[in-house]
This record gives sequence, structure tokens and C-alpha cells, in this order.
Amino acid sequence: MPASAPRRHAALAREIAAHDHRYYVLDDPSVSDAAYDALLRELRELEAAHPELVTPASPTQRVAGAPREGFTRVTHRERMFSLDNAYAEDALAEFVRRVEGGLPSGELPAFVVEPKLDGGSLEVVYEGGRLVEASTRGDGFVGEDVTENVRTIRGLPLSIAYEPRLTCRGEVLIYRRDLERVNEARVAAGEEPFANPRNAASGSLRLLDAREVARRPLRVLLYAVVEGPSLAATHHEALARLAELGLPTHRRETVVHDLPAMMAAIAAIDEARAAYPFETDGAVVKVDAFRHQDILGATAKVPRWAIAYKFAAERAATRVLDVEVNVGRTGALTPVAVLEPVQLGGTEVSRASMHNADYVANLDVRIGDRVTIEKAGEIIPQVVSVDLEARTGDERPFQMPTRCPVCDAEAVRVEGEAATRCPNRACPGQVKAALHHFARRFAMDIDHLGPSLVEQLVERGLVRDVADLYDLDAAAVAALERMADKSAGNVVREIDASRARHLDRLLCGLGIPQIGQVAARQLAEVAGSLDGLLAWTPEQAREAIDAIHGFGPKMADSVVGWLVDADTRVLLERLRARGVSRPQPRVEAAKEGPLVGESFCVTGVLTRKRDDVHELIRAAGGEVHDTVKAGTTFLVMGDKVGKSKLDAAKKRGTQLVTEQELYARLGVG
Ligand code: IVH
Repeated sequence: MPASAPRRHAALAREIAAHDHRYYVLDDPSVSDAAYDALLRELRELEAAHPELVTPASPTQRVAGAPREGFTRVTHRERMFSLDNAYAEDALAEFVRRVEGGLPSGELPAFVVEPKLDGGSLEVVYEGGRLVEASTRGDGFVGEDVTENVRTIRGLPLSIAYEPRLTCRGEVLIYRRDLERVNEARVAAGEEPFANPRNAASGSLRLLDAREVARRPLRVLLYAVVEGPSLAATHHEALARLAELGLPTHRRETVVHDLPAMMAAIAAIDEARAAYPFETDGAVVKVDAFRHQDILGATAKVPRWAIAYKFAAERAATRVLDVEVNVGRTGALTPVAVLEPVQLGGTEVSRASMHNADYVANLDVRIGDRVTIEKAGEIIPQVVSVDLEARTGDERPFQMPTRCPVCDAEAVRVEGEAATRCPNRACPGQVKAALHHFARRFAMDIDHLGPSLVEQLVERGLVRDVADLYDLDAAAVAALERMADKSAGNVVREIDASRARHLDRLLCGLGIPQIGQVAARQLAEVAGSLDGLLAWTPEQAREAIDAIHGFGPKMADSVVGWLVDADTRVLLERLRARGVSRPQPRVEAAKEGPLVGESFCVTGVLTRKRDDVHELIRAAGGEVHDTVKAGTTFLVMGDKVGKSKLDAAKKRGTQLVTEQELYARLGVG
């Protein structure tokens, strides 16, 4: 080997690592792709000629050989905790008080506020300056060894100038702009695009073929040092030291000393996050001094020195191209803004609701306006404000139509009601919306009854109400466009199977105003069966419904009004004649259990089915309601909780608990 070879090898490796750092960490590329590839090629050739030069830290060694069978498990040296969540200033005030109370008197804490990155969590370990291990969070104690995959991430150095063991945690991400390219390629290859960067990142991290991982534009941003003995005494200094070592960090931390500054730092992140290259769904507040973190320690689930502040809703700015009017299942005409497509909460949004004519008039939304849209919870995005300063004068006001855009019936607006309605029950727009609702998971749960099928069934006159579904035969469905025999058979079988749902699911599916899942079940329990419900005289119905615990006058009026309506009765009779719905089993409320005397409302995107969560609460003696009302003691929150539920809870002094806290309290995993 020529004497110059080892030197050239080291120089090339160093130069490539420096370019990786500029490109992936500093976001400031310093060479063209071609020049970079030339360096890598030279390095490969040099190593091919002199294999003894290859080291694990060489840039050529990022990608491993054959795909693997599965991942081995790694026990984390320190538990990977998740974080407690806060949704409002009160909860942060409480956090600050608890932290101050937990420290020796006279010691005031400093806090770091930083973005909460929305990807997949990762632990990386360096030993002797080499990247030796990377693992997923798993259950917090034991994760999966994804070292080979993580080695392919070019923004993460394979070697650093720090000898002691260094254990860091961070998030694996795909930047929004990179996801666009990935999805274009996937679509071109006939694959499903990723729904959002988070799914793309965590899905990629767990691929079994590291060569495939290498093709995904993954990044790592580190947000914590767990072990790094001589690194720093505080979190913010530790982050700075990581950056000095060439490690990728989010570089967006702020040190604060009191609650007002904390709130301001959080608001600043909220303002800026639309411009971040990655998704951010909140801020994380951490006690800065490691010594303070140690004193505070952790509860069974979460550290006492950190908390996540979740932004209630995600917002984005865009332009209104047009306004369409949708017909809902109750005939309500909803103005919908057609938007210039914009990324919001990880998905592309091109439509946003504007609820009703008053809403449009109050905001004064015009076609052509710059607007802010917001997505809260499972709710569809809505227009929340108009940028009046951006007006050019070319904007056109929107007028609510006087006739139904689908069936041309004259629209009506009942005094005191916000909605303009199409009064025609046979309106195809209404029927389509009713069918969609009927088939939903929490209602009759009919798979495969998708939008295109519903559209055709109604347009061809095969289905005029939900009862008609039960008369469909497979041959008629198979004759529709884009329907294979097999899928037609599946749909008809699914519809048939839905006859066996309990009465509460049918009532949910019929969509009685004011009546949610919980109320439908209570109503089904007192009626017993569809026969029972139909057998009630109006007086009996009134008496039975008034006696249902938790039903206010509005709810009772709505059910009674619905039940005595002639159209409702015809529909219910038709459903009965087709054998739809089974009698409702009566489940006695548990008389004892940890939740006796408490009443709950469950909201947001949950990790289990909402029904199952309700069941857990009832089995523990708790009561469940669809909404937060006077006397609701707890609001159980999944992910992406809507603002209206939070506001109601705040107003009524309802305590907020996370889904996980509920499970912890019930001792379920
Ligand atoms: S610190 C003990 N900082 O959020 C504290 N976590 O809900 C450990 N996350 O599993 C976490 N951004 O994957 C921390 N700046 C940040 C974060 C962050 C995102 C994730 C992390 C964790 C989850 C907790």
C-alpha cells in the first residue's frame, strides 16, 4: 500500500462527514451532488484496493448487507419515559409550582422550552467515539435494535470526538419537503403515499432492509442527553455541546425563568412552527439543571421535571378559491371553502368547513380571501379567520343559495336556527350523507360502503333510504362501475351482517339530533328493542325518556320529536321488516370500583375503540356521557383534542386526564 493511502482515506472520510454535516445538520450544503458522489466513489475505490483501510466509521459503511429477519431487543440503560401533557396555562402553572416545591428551599429552577418533534423516538449510544447502538423506545424499558437502519442516516455521525459513553435521545423524522419527493416516487411506483411525515419516519425506521432505509430521507434530531458524564451540568449546555460534536439537534431551545416567559416561548414556537421543516405538535418544557432533574425524579409513568404542552389545534394560511355548499344528512346546507391545497397536521387540506351562513357573514369570508384554517381533534378543518389586510378588492362575497344545490328544493331557514336546510327528505344529497353516517364504525360498521359506491347506489335509484340497503342483491351491485363480483359480494355480505348490530348502533346510525353514542345506548336500554321503541305511545315515550339519567330537556325533546315523526316511523317499520337490529342487552352499572361517583366524557383520537374505553369506565363504576356537562368530573383526552371540549371542561371545572392516566388509574395497560 502506498504510504499516502491511509492519509488519503482519512481525508476523504473527514471531508464526506463534513459535507454530511453541512447538508443534514446545518441545512447548508457545501458541494454539488456530483462532487459529493465523486468523493464517495474515490473512497470506495481506495477501500476496494486496500480493504484493511475499512473501518466501521467509514462513510462507505453506512449501508449493511442483506435484509434481516427481525429486530433484536435492547434493554434501555435508563427507562425511556413518555411525557405528561398540558393543554393550557393552568397546567403549566401547576407544573412550575410542583417543580419549585420539589426543590430545596432557595433553589430556583430554570426551564428550557423547545419544540415537541413529531416523529419516532430513538436512543443512540456512542462508545469510544463510535456510534455503537440505536434503539426504538418500545415499551420504555425494552426497545428494538435498529442500529443498522440508523447507521444509514447521513445526518448522524458514525464517529464523534468524545470518548466516554454518550447516550442521547431524539426523534427520527422526515422533513415535510422530503416527504413530498418520497410520496411522488411512491405514487409513480404504484405504492400508497405516506399519510404524514410521522408515519413515513417511524415506518421507515422499522424496515428490515437497511438498503431500503438508506433510500429514505430520514433525519435524526436529538433532544436529550441521558448519559454524558463530562458534557454539561444543564440541558441547554448539553444540547450546545452535542451540536459542537457535530451531532444533529433541533437548535430551537429557549431558557426561561418564570411562567410568563415560558408562555411567551411556547407562543413563539406555535407561531414559527409552520415554517419549521419538520412537524411540531407542541412544546416540551424541561427543568434545565441535571441536578434538579435528579432531585425531582419521576412518577411511575413520567418524569416530574418535564412536561409537554400540546397545541390544541393546528393552523395554516391559504387562499379561498371557491365556496361550495354541501348537503348534510339532516338537510343542513354547509358552506365549504375550496382552498388552495395546504399542509396541515401532516395532511394536505383542500377544503374547510364554514358551518353556516352566519359564520360566513361574521367572518366576512369572500372568494379569493387569504384565510387561516384550523384542524382540531377529529373535526374536519375549518376556516377561523380572514386576513383583511391581504384584500385586493377582487374578492367576491358569497351568498347562501336559496335553493338546495342538489335537488333544487327551496331552502328553508327556521327562525332561531343557524342552519339553512333542504326540506326534501328524498334529496339525493341527504340520502348519501345519511348512508355514510349509517355505515360508520361506531354506528352500523359496514365496511366497503365507500363514497363511490354510495354515489352510484343513490344516483341509479337503487337506494332511497338506509332500509333499501338491505334489499340490495349482489348482481345489481356488481353491475355498477368499478365493482368486481367479489367486492360486490363482500359489500352485500357486510350489509347483511349489520342486521345483527344491537339497537344502540342502529340509533347511532340513524343520527338523532343531540344523541351521541352514550345517549343512544341509554335510549336503547330503556326501549329494549326496535319493537319496544315502536310500541311506545308518544306519552310512554315522553315518560320513559324523561326518566333517563343525564338526559336534559333538549335531548328528550329531540328524541320524542324524532320518534313521533311520521317519516321516522315509516323508516323504523321498514328496518324492522328487514330484521335490522338485535335487542339491547342491559348492562347493570358496576356498584363498586375505583370510579364510583365520578362521571366521564371521553374525547380525541384514542388508542382503543371509544366504546371499549366507555366499557372500562363503567366496569369500574364510573358514569359516561357524550359531552362535558355540569357535574362531569373528568374529561379523558386522547390525541388531538378539540378546543370546544377543552373550553367546556375549563368552564365547568372538569379535571383533565390523559387516556394513559385513566388506564394507569384502572390498572390496565
Ligand atoms: S424529552 C423524559 N423532548 O415525545 C423526557 N421528548 O410524549 C423524554 N418528543 O417519547 C422526552 N420532542 O419521543 C423530549 N423536545 C423533545 C421531544 C420529545 C418529541 C417525544 C419523545 C417522547 C414523547 C413523549
